[in-house]
Amino acid sequence: MGERVLVLGLESSCDETAVAVTEGGRVLAETVRSQIDLHQKYGGVVPEIASRAHLEAVESLTEETLKQAGLTLGQIEGLAVTQGPGLVGALLVAVNFAKGLALALNLPIAGVNHVRAHALAPFLSLDSLSQDSLPAPQFPYVALVASGGHTSLFLVEDFLRFELLGQTLDDAAGEAFDKFAKLLGLGYPGGGVVERLARQGRSDAFKITRPLLREGLNFSFSGLKTQVMGLYNDNQLDQAPLDDQRLADLAASFQAAVVEVLVTKLTVATKRTGARGAALTGGVACNGPLRQAAAQALGQANLPLWAPPPAWCADNGAMIAFLGGLQLAQGHNLLDLAAEALPRWPGQ
Ligand code: KG4
Ligand code: ZN
Repeated sequence: MGERVLVLGLESSCDETAVAVTEGGRVLAETVRSQIDLHQKYGGVVPEIASRAHLEAVESLTEETLKQAGLTLGQIEGLAVTQGPGLVGALLVAVNFAKGLALALNLPIAGVNHVRAHALAPFLSLDSLSQDSLPAPQFPYVALVASGGHTSLFLVEDFLRFELLGQTLDDAAGEAFDKFAKLLGLGYPGGGVVERLARQGRSDAFKITRPLLREGLNFSFSGLKTQVMGLYNDNQLDQAPLDDQRLADLAASFQAAVVEVLVTKLTVATKRTGARGAALTGGVACNGPLRQAAAQALGQANLPLWAPPPAWCADNGAMIAFLGGLQLAQGHNLLDLAAEALPRWPGQ
């Protein structure tokens, strides 16, 4: 799977600086520095703060990752960097760092699409011989990438061949979790907090309409926040602060709506395309009830679900190094020193 070259992968598209060394799908070492504590008080990612924090982290994380792998920079055979999509100032940090390394070490750089890299995360493994306990996905498969910035469904025909089947028309699924949490004063980011709260709640306590449920493969999540606000006016919630049980019920009802939309579209897409299974990745794929519901729905159709462990669902350098390694082997989107970051990547 892929060429067995030692690739250094660099990721700085949003609020995590991440570095990894891979050899094919095998992850030799990786480090991640999250900026959540820096952005928390603003209730979302502040681009200028993100860029500065990436700048402060990227070099030391690279050193730490190489040390973990027991390698020196001189042994690295190729570079992979997230070229987009993402925050332009944030992306530029790793892109420029990669250019500096390329110039100094005379190495090629692969410019990696962050969302596609998420879709290939199920191929990552710590084991040189097998894929740990997870069997590798088989092509073609449908991948749902659901994170704070993206909600996209792909038909993955091969490592470098993707067809976009659907995407969000407004907010991403993770963004919906984050906005819900902000509205209820639960902090940032919202996904983990909402999942924990929802465990104590009843998912049928509040009626929340599932947007675009049976209408094609695009998503729309921006109306969910409006619906939750509307509950206050519908007398389903009074104006007084919610008690713990009502809050948990609301979290469970909200989560169930997002999960049902994601799982329904993933299942429909997988059946409709005749794919051999489905992959579930992106930060939202850390969500336990989502993983269970997706595995169950696909299982009923006798189709496998490949969901990477949570650390590889969220932003990481290993997925960038893996896809970059494949691109390096095929000469696909190699960057020269004039290459730019791509905050938007048409067709993703
Ligand atoms: O992939 P990721 O780490 O970064 C982006 O590329 O955005 O995803 C972060 C997103 C956030 O919106 C966060 O609220 C969401 O993933 N998330 C979750 C959970 N853990 C993280 N959403 C639902 N349930 C979770 N357990
Ligand atoms: Zn991501």
